[in-house]
Amino acid sequence: MRNLTRMMYVSRVSGGVGEDELKQILESARRKNKELKVTGVLCGGGGHFIQVLEGEQEDLFRLYGDILNDRRHYDSVLIGVAPIKQRLFGSWSMGYLSNPPEVMEVRRKELLAVWQGRSEAAELLTLVKRFLEQLGQGTA
Ligand SMILES: Cc1cc2nc3c(=O)[nH]c(=O)nc-3n(C[C@H](O)[C@H](O)[C@H](O)COP(=O)(O)O)c2cc1C
Repeated sequence: MRNLTRMMYVSRVSGGVGEDELKQILESARRKNKELKVTGVLCGGGGHFIQVLEGEQEDLFRLYGDILNDRRHYDSVLIGVAPIKQRLFGSWSMGYLSNPPEVMEVRRKELLAVWQGRSEAAELLTLVKRFLEQLGQGTA
């Protein structure tokens, strides 16, 4: 695949979006991502989404356009986009990780600080890996 790319964004969950809507999001995401050979993970909790997407750059940008227009979330901030040699989520058309509100709050703040330049600019790969490790540990 040419121009294999990874991107990450944070957003806020719209009012009224619950388990049913989340199920629908994941169903359509998994179906479409398989077609597009897009992989990644969606993290949710405490009214926040954090998503990592991997795939061909043009497909990702087009998809992100659709995702931005999706009323089930808002306030999306693109944290980073980077070329990659290999995927971290090769076996996940779209994994879902549910996290406690306080964990999501802290991770979101850290990511926004990177985007705003208030934190040392980290390489996206490092950022995503650290993010996942911390989520795995479930520490706030
Ligand atoms: C937080 C969030 C994450 C999403 N992630 C994806 C995704 O990874 N892939 C995808 O195809 N759609 C995703 N969607 C859904 C898209 O916004 C859109 O509804 C979908 O691509 C439209 O699919 P359709 O072509 O079947 O109408 C996401 C929506 C939200 C709110």
